[in-house]
Amino acid sequence: MDRIKILVTGGAGYIGSHAVVELYEAGFQPVIIDNFVNSQESALRGVEEILGVKVPFHRIDCNDLEAMRAVFAEEGSLRGVIHFAAYKAVGESVQKPLEYYQNNVGSLLTLLQVMREFGVEALVFSSSCTVYGVPDALPVTEQTPTKKANSPYGATKQMCEDILRDVAAAPDASLRTILLRYFNPIGAHPSAKIGELPLGVPQNLIPYVTQTAAGIREKLTIYGNTYDTPDGTNIRDYVHVVDLAKAHVVAVQRLLDAQAERVETFNVGTGRGNSVLEVVQAFERATGQKLNYVIGPPRAGDVPAIYADVTKSTQELHFQTTSTLEEALSSAWKWQLSLGA
Ligand code: UD1
Repeated sequence: MDRIKILVTGGAGYIGSHAVVELYEAGFQPVIIDNFVNSQESALRGVEEILGVKVPFHRIDCNDLEAMRAVFAEEGSLRGVIHFAAYKAVGESVQKPLEYYQNNVGSLLTLLQVMREFGVEALVFSSSCTVYGVPDALPVTEQTPTKKANSPYGATKQMCEDILRDVAAAPDASLRTILLRYFNPIGAHPSAKIGELPLGVPQNLIPYVTQTAAGIREKLTIYGNTYDTPDGTNIRDYVHVVDLAKAHVVAVQRLLDAQAERVETFNVGTGRGNSVLEVVQAFERATGQKLNYVIGPPRAGDVPAIYADVTKSTQELHFQTTSTLEEALSSAWKWQLSLGA
């Protein structure tokens, strides 16, 4: 039987490449588009090595309407889309707001236009816990009100969610969409053939930790230890990227089975919060590496603490995390070692 074709924008990226693997292994035929602005071709080779097959790939920008039309026309029978392609650095978005709005919002508008033209109805969208801003109470549920985003990056995720809700609610809409609000994805595929590939100095915690342990960076700076949390450092919900990738497969299946409402929103996290210091300690336990770190000043825009209530995603999406923090960190370390120091 022919595999059901799913377009994966940003499929060479960190989460996208893991989702491509899980989609294929679940019996789908992923089709990747990526422009490599924040990803590398080596991810496609890694995917191919894991799966033993080449995944169809188009090097285009999702903002390029004609190129998008050409892909939809050439692929013919796309049944759904997972839209990962976006800029994602909070700090950079403050420096380059126009680029963030243009790329993140613009690419979604282009994609929706082409999906409508070609009658493709199912869309899984990469949203983020950043839409909750600084929450009043923890953990956050999907009903927790969103607050004014504290960065243009966060604002683009809120805007994209609003656009999708409006488009799906139109009387003649055919779009059905699932918004997955990711918490902090970490780790790598157990094969260590794909993982996070930050360009330049990593902004995110885990690649900075693994690069420090590998001797590429001298020391990790922990951004502040006087927050109102048990050990004073920020609390996040760190979810293994393979678990997160699997949530996309379930979401796609749910849209294709037409079980879903027109718009559904799910938190994708573990439901557990860990402080930065706990992550450092867990990394040391999991890998036997001693990590050189110092406490520095807080980073502008950081939310003191956030973690997910996963009741809805567990019950309705049947999403379950299978990895512990240590397992995720040890997979990140294995991946770092595979890259060489
Ligand atoms: C943020 C966004 C998330 C977005 C992601 C993309 C929020 C709540 N989350 O995640 O939506 O997808 O950026 O990059 O806005 N840390 C250090 N030292 C470092 C690096 C990080 O102490 O060198 C700390 C941070 O202060 C934070 C934690 O580690 O407490 C995680 O940071 P990071 O990996 O950058 O992710 P978030 O900022 O949580």
